[in-house]
Amino acid sequence: MKGKIAPSMMCVDLMNVERDVHQLEAESVDYLHVDIMDNHFVPNITLSSDFIRALKKITRIPIDTHLMIEDPEKSIGTYDMMESNDILCVHYESTANIWRAISLIRDMGIKAGVSINPGTPVGMLEELIPKLDMVLIMTVNPGFAGQKLIPEAVRKIGKLRKLLHETGNQNVMIEVDGNVSFEHISSMRKEGADIYVGGSSSIFSNEGTLKENISRMRRLVSEIE
Ligand code: DX5
Ligand code: ZN
Repeated sequence: MKGKIAPSMMCVDLMNVERDVHQLEAESVDYLHVDIMDNHFVPNITLSSDFIRALKKITRIPIDTHLMIEDPEKSIGTYDMMESNDILCVHYESTANIWRAISLIRDMGIKAGVSINPGTPVGMLEELIPKLDMVLIMTVNPGFAGQKLIPEAVRKIGKLRKLLHETGNQNVMIEVDGNVSFEHISSMRKEGADIYVGGSSSIFSNEGTLKENISRMRRLVSEIE
């Protein structure tokens, strides 16, 4: 499967969001990755559901929302602006009611994702996998852009790919998020990632223009073996 690109919206120029979004549109990115944090599950606050509502007014690019909030099932209804080709992803570690959270997302007709932190084993997802459209593998501790890769987490992509195959759930997409750099993408691709979150070390790095960085990333995520 050709790799898909999801620019991280917490890395855009927040004083020129519409300009950057239209540039991302021109480069045909596959998703806009929107990080939402509550300063409880992670020690940071970034974007919001209102930001997503505003994005929906200026673009049709599917939204890939990454909720890093405690007890997400309490606020999933707030994301009623999301549509059937959008993905709403919650952290496995953020609630005692992960099954309820996923059911609520699916009942809203939105694609359902679960994210796991570097320390959470892939095997914890086995019962949930048949209800999921996507699994997000964190390759940094969540909360901030610009962090360094946790190399041990990259192998989890391959472990998940194997689990999906063994359980007959190959249709579930694998997204990777955290220091998805030009240097690290090929190892992530070899492990079997489908969607790559482009943040400060790729799309928004100062190594090139947005256009140049996206073209470079697109080559790396789609390189044929
Ligand atoms: C971190 C977020 C990531 C972040 C990626 O908690 O989930 O999406 O924006 O930023 P980089 O690519 O700079 O690690
Ligand atoms: Zn994210």
